[in-house]
Amino acid sequence: MAYSISNRVRSIAPSATKEMALLAEEVGGCVSLGQGVPSFATPQHILEAVIKVLRDQPAGGKYTLQPGLPALRQALAEDMGRNRNLTVHWPTEILITVGAMEGLLATILTILDPGDEILVPSPGYASYTEQILLAEGMPVFVPLRSSDWGLDTDRLRGSLTPRTKAILLCNPSNPTGAVYSREDILAVGELALQNDLVIISDETYDFLFYEGPPPFSPTVVPELKDRVIAVSSFSKKFAFTGWRVGWVYSDARWMEQIMKVHDAAVIAAPTVSQYAALAAINGPQDVITAMRDRLGDRRKLCLERLDRLSRYFDYVTPRGAFYVLPRYLFTGEPSAALAVRLIREAQVITIPGASYGLEGEGRLRMSYGGEEADIDEAFDRLEGWLNGRLG
Ligand SMILES: Cc1ncc(COP(=O)(O)O)c(C=O)c1O
Repeated sequence: MAYSISNRVRSIAPSATKEMALLAEEVGGCVSLGQGVPSFATPQHILEAVIKVLRDQPAGGKYTLQPGLPALRQALAEDMGRNRNLTVHWPTEILITVGAMEGLLATILTILDPGDEILVPSPGYASYTEQILLAEGMPVFVPLRSSDWGLDTDRLRGSLTPRTKAILLCNPSNPTGAVYSREDILAVGELALQNDLVIISDETYDFLFYEGPPPFSPTVVPELKDRVIAVSSFSKKFAFTGWRVGWVYSDARWMEQIMKVHDAAVIAAPTVSQYAALAAINGPQDVITAMRDRLGDRRKLCLERLDRLSRYFDYVTPRGAFYVLPRYLFTGEPSAALAVRLIREAQVITIPGASYGLEGEGRLRMSYGGEEADIDEAFDRLEGWLNGRLG
């Protein structure tokens, strides 16, 4: 049998996060600074609501309407009304997706023709590249300012070509932990207006910021209404990664088209998970602040531990999400090789910076989503390994 794999699939790579996890499994006994998953359990009231749906509602095991449960879309619209002062017409402007991931892919497939370009600030979330390549588009990596991981609007402008269709923003950013300034987002908005571009705004981490002003969303700029497609997620906000629920918010004309991809790919997000999301958004919201506070403590711990290793690492202080992307000063080896060696020799999982783009090379992404004890253990091991090796 000849395995004739499409060029599209040939062109993409498995995610480094998964590869590191697989290697760690093989090695055994590893402790992780790798995962993009906060350690918390899904709150109890959400689980109880789901049990009730499964017990009492036969519809709980059937498809929902393609765009998702009306009550959930309405609740999201109201939430955006309260928090962003937006008037959202939920029947035509909100789509419930299988995580932010499906929302991003459906959006990218909707926007791009083969050969079209999307500007991706780099380092950036690795899956953007694979999704753009699957749509036969071209990711154009535009370096962030390495001094603060801020957006470099001049470089973004300089990277435009007649084939540029969109700019992909992730704010707060995975993997840098940066929160972009309002001015920079507005400058990107200007760029989009002047050059007829779409802004894909990945807002997966929009609730996770620790200092400074909250992340500014381009959805609140009225002039950008028909050119921002916002993608967000329940995953990190409600300790919900396994339920797989996200959503897209856009102008109705985009949404009509995005819906076609969604229908062809998944029909609808899983019904039980949508009920879980409904319970999450209608339930007590202090679970979000409680998680943010805990993550704030873990951030402090992680940065203190990195500061103790200042001979070996330097870093830009992250203000959001739960990642830091330190530069290593003790070796010139590629980050992929170093991350593998750390798993094998120190039993610590980190993610190679190069998997987030060229600008990530020479760095490792560390997550402080894990328990404090695990963060401490990982840094104890790193410290022991570095001191033993380098004296
Ligand atoms: C920046 C970013 N966007 C999207 C996703 C995917 O989120 P979801 O679990 O909602 O598919 C992640 C997951 O880590 C992420 O970091």
